[in-house]
This record gives sequence, structure tokens and C-alpha cells, in this order.
Amino acid sequence: MIAAHMVLRAPDDFHLHVRQGADLKACLPSSTAWCARALVMPNTLPPVSTPSRVRAYREEIRKAAPDFQPLMSFKIMPSMTGDEVSALKDAGCVAGKLYPAGATTNAQDGVSSIDQIQDLLSAMEEWGLVLCVHGEQPEDPILTREISYIPVIEKIAVHYPRLRIVFEHLSTKEAVQAVAAMPSTVAATLTPHHMALTIDDVIGGNMNPYHFCKPVIKQPSDRDAVAAAAVSGNPRFFFGSDSAPHPKASKLSGNALPGIFCAPVAMSVVAEVFERLGALDKMEDFVSRFGAEFYTLPLNSGTVEMEKTPWQAPDEVNGFVPMLAGAGLRWRVIRRAG
Ligand code: NCD
Ligand code: ZN
Repeated sequence: MIAAHMVLRAPDDFHLHVRQGADLKACLPSSTAWCARALVMPNTLPPVSTPSRVRAYREEIRKAAPDFQPLMSFKIMPSMTGDEVSALKDAGCVAGKLYPAGATTNAQDGVSSIDQIQDLLSAMEEWGLVLCVHGEQPEDPILTREISYIPVIEKIAVHYPRLRIVFEHLSTKEAVQAVAAMPSTVAATLTPHHMALTIDDVIGGNMNPYHFCKPVIKQPSDRDAVAAAAVSGNPRFFFGSDSAPHPKASKLSGNALPGIFCAPVAMSVVAEVFERLGALDKMEDFVSRFGAEFYTLPLNSGTVEMEKTPWQAPDEVNGFVPMLAGAGLRWRVIRRAG
């Protein structure tokens, strides 16, 4: 029996790894089933850090998914100049992604200190590009890496007062509180996994490599702070899935890369969290409005339809194991239109 039904403006995903080649074809349909537009992360091999790579990658994505709008980001390289930033904007980028060197998958060539990129940040501020930050201090202990990055975000916000900054995928109550207190130029993306899971879902029983990501999922109090921020109605907290699939064989290799493939269950998990907190009426703003407004983009015109009916998350999608594989869920996407 269908207990409930809802139609939302088609969502944006402001943090998505669409991968390349066969992996892209295998995973992107799990996003386009409900998502009209996404900010595409640039940590491919080679990275998306030149205008020609931006154009080629966008073309690859458009070919695979004509009903989907990729918003392009570039990977900030320590040597990048202001002129390169201007060319990347001309190629259609809306954001640049700052990865501290070694912080996550394919970030070995990232930035060691923001002192290396002062001219680049000035250029991004000048050109109206959004700075997306993987905010973790890689040399610090894993569970406090995000907390120790908060002062870096605060410093960038003070030095570049017109630069729009997104502190990506918040995982701690400290970062949630810090962003809420920062100026209106600073926002944050929140993921389904950080608002619904805890470290026990990763290593509380047997180790689950499919729930291993950076930043690592933390304590119940952190999960609750992320969920509370999502339903708060504060427009500076918006949806970015950080769906980051890795093939099953790689996840089981004994050298599992961080990244959770949450796209197949993302809308279901978000709906369950919002319903549990009595805020289903605020879900549309979180997934379809606040991010677009922060990025100064028009809102999507299509819709996504969901129903409340028990279903089971897939065990596997084309060789990729999703978040909550095989678990019972309550809300389900039935169609995306327009
Ligand atoms: C991402 C990936 O696999 O590309 N992994 C992750 O754990 N989130 C990279 C990232 O965004 O950190
Ligand atoms: Zn990511």
C-alpha cells in the first residue's frame, strides 16, 4: 500500500564523482534517475585542470546522459595562475576544487598550503568562481582532520571577502557550528551518509569498505548535527551527495579507496532523515533550491516523484556496491520528469 507520495522540483547534486569511461556509464544512471544537474568533481586521472580537459569531460558526460546538466569544476593545482583560472571560467567552469595534498582519492598532487595559491584565489574571487574545499588537514589524526581545517576556511573567508566558499561534505558537529557562524559567503554541502550513518556502520561490526569515505563517518552526535543542519532551513546548508563509486574489486582489494556510492539510495535516505525529523516540507529547499541559489543558477524546471513504499536497496549496481546495500528503505524515487 502506498502511504504517501510527493513531487519535488528536480534536485541538484552539488558534489558528484561521475568517473570516466565504462565506470561513468555504469554509475551515472543511478544519479540521473533523480538528479537534473550536478557539480562534477575533477579528481579524475588525469585531473580536470585545463580548458581542454573540461570540454572533453563535459562532452563525455553529455553523450552518456543527454537529459542531465553537468556543472564543471576544475582541480586547483599548486602552480595554477590567474590567467589559467580565467581560461577555465571561459571553458564553462563554475567552481574550482581545493584538495589538500594527500587528503583523499587522487589528491596526491593537491595543495600543501593556501599560501601557494593566493593569486589564484584572488582571481577566483574576481571572476566569481566558487571555491569548493575538501576541508581536512591530512597530516592530523583521521578523526580530527576536519576540525583542524576549520581555521583555514575562516582565514580564506577573511582574506577573500567576496569569494564564495563551500566547505564540502561536513562530518562533524564542530564544522557544522563553525559554518553556521561564518559570513554569508561560506556554505556547506551535506551528504546522505554523513546525515544517516555513524562510524559503527563502517567498523562497528565487521568492516564495511563500502561505507568507508573521506571524511570518515563519525559519532552519533556528529550525524545528528549534520542532519539538524540539513533540516534547519538555513540556505547555506545544501545537498551534495559525494557519491564516489569504486568498483567492488577495488573496494575488496585490501587497499580500499575512500568513497561511498550513495547515488542509488541518496533521495531515499534524505527523505527518511527529513521525515524522521518532521521536516519533509523542507526537503525540496535542501535538495533543489539552496544550492542553486548559492551558485546563482536558475532553479531546475523538471520534477522528481517519490513514494513511501518499502523497498530494498540493491546489493550491487553494475559491479558497484552502494551505500546500505540490501537494506530496507521506506521512500523510493519513482520517476523524474521534465
Ligand atoms: C572521493 C573519491 O573517491 O573520489 N572519495 C571520498 O571518500 N569522498 C574523493 C573525495 O571527495 O574525497
Ligand atoms: Zn567527493
